[in-house]
Amino acid sequence: MIGNFTYCNPTKLYFGKDALEGLKEELPKYGKNVLLVYGGGSIKKNGIYDAVVALLKACRKEIFEDGGVMPNPSYAKVCEGIERARAAKADLILAVGGGSVCDYAKAVSVSVHCEEDAWEKYFIRFEEPSCEIIPVGCVLTMVGTGSEMNGGSVITNHAQKLKIGHVFGEEVFPKFSILNPEFTYTVPRYQMVSGIYDIMSHILEQYFSGTDDNTSDYLSEGLLRSLIRSADIAIENPLDYEARSNIMWTATWALNTLIAKGKTTDWMVHMLGQAVAAHTDATHGMTLAAVTVPYYNFLLPYGTAKFARYAENVWGVDPAGKPQEEVAREGLRRMQAWMQKLGLVMNITDLGATREMLDGMVKSTLIMDGGYKVMDENDVRNVLLQSF
Ligand code: NZQ
Ligand code: ZN
Repeated sequence: MIGNFTYCNPTKLYFGKDALEGLKEELPKYGKNVLLVYGGGSIKKNGIYDAVVALLKACRKEIFEDGGVMPNPSYAKVCEGIERARAAKADLILAVGGGSVCDYAKAVSVSVHCEEDAWEKYFIRFEEPSCEIIPVGCVLTMVGTGSEMNGGSVITNHAQKLKIGHVFGEEVFPKFSILNPEFTYTVPRYQMVSGIYDIMSHILEQYFSGTDDNTSDYLSEGLLRSLIRSADIAIENPLDYEARSNIMWTATWALNTLIAKGKTTDWMVHMLGQAVAAHTDATHGMTLAAVTVPYYNFLLPYGTAKFARYAENVWGVDPAGKPQEEVAREGLRRMQAWMQKLGLVMNITDLGATREMLDGMVKSTLIMDGGYKVMDENDVRNVLLQSF
C-alpha cells in the first residue's frame, strides 16, 4: 500500500430476511416527521410499502410521502423534494427503493437547509454541505449502486444534459440501511443484470489503477469471483436466496470506500456511461456495459500487467507460455462472453444513442485522471464511436 488514508464508514446495516425489523431499533432515534421517499410504485405492488408504513405507524411517526422518484433522478424532482421536506419539517428521510431513490434522498437531505443553488454547489462545484443535513435511512429494494453505504448521489440535469455524481463525505452516508435480499426478488431481469454489471464495474474502476502490491486489489479479486459465481446462479434461478444475498452483500462492499483505500481510481467507464445516460436516460448498468469493452481495449496497452493479473486471478486464464498481452486480452474476451451470456446491452445504439448525439456525449464526459491513461477528448470520441 503506498497511499495514506483514513477509513470510516458510519452506516449501520441490517442484513437478511428479518432486516426490516431493524426499523424498530432505528426509528425511535429520530423526530416525529418522516419523509417517505420512493420510486414509481414497485414497492406498492410487492408489499414493501405496506410493511414499512406499518412499522412507521407502530413507531408513532407522522408520515409525509414523496413518491415518483424516477430512475436517473432529475434535479427538477430534487427541487420538488426539497419543498416537500421543508413543508414536512422532516426529521428523517426514509428512502425505500433502489439507488435512484437513495441518491435522491441524499441530494434532498443536503439541500433542505441550503441557501445556495444546490445543483451549482454540489454537482458543479463539488462542495461539501455547510448547512444542517437531514438524516437519511434506506430500505434497499434493488441491488447494484452501493448507495446504501456510501455518500454517492448521482443526479441528472436534463436542461444541461449532465448526469453528475457527487461523492459526499461521511455525514451524508445513510445512518442505517435495511438489506433484505428477498426484497429484490421482484426486480425485473433487465434491472437485475444491469445491477450485477454495475457492481462489477464499480470493482473494476477501483482495480484498474496503480502498480503497487495493494490489499485492496486482492479484496477486489475475491469480490469479483463471488459476484461472477452468484450471478451465474441468479440468472438461472432468480429466487436462489444464497446467490441473491451474496450479490447484495458484494454490491455493498464494491462501493463503500473500502476497496479504494490506498489507491487512485479510474472511473472512466462511469464517466462515459453517464454521458451516454445524460443524452438517452438509459439504465445505469447498461450504459456501463455498452462502453466497457471499447474502453478496456483502449486502456489495456497502458496497464497490461494488471489486465493479465485480472485474466489469471478472476477468469482463470492459464498464463503458461503466453505473452502477457495475450493473457490480458484473453481475460477481456472471457469477460465479454460472460457479459453477453448475462444479457447485457453491449452497444450504445441499442440504448438509443445516435451519431447526432456524439458531440454532445463527448462534451458531457468528465475526464478523470486516476487510471492508467488520462484520456483526451479525441480518445473519448473514439471510444464512444467504438461503442455504437
Ligand atoms: O421506481 P420503481 O417503481 O421502484 O421501480 C424501479 C426502477 O424502475 C425498479 N425496482 C427497484 N426495486 C424493485 C424494482 N422493481 C421491482 N421490484 C423491486 N424490488 O428498478 C428500476 C431501477 O431502479 P433504480 O433505483 O433506478 O436502479 P439502481 O439501483 O440501479 O439505481 C440507479 C441510479 O443510481 C446511480 C445511477 O447513476 C442511477 O442514477 N448510481 C449511484 C451510485 C452511488 N450512489 O454511489 C453509484 C452508481 O455508479 C450509480 O451511478
Ligand atoms: Zn455504477
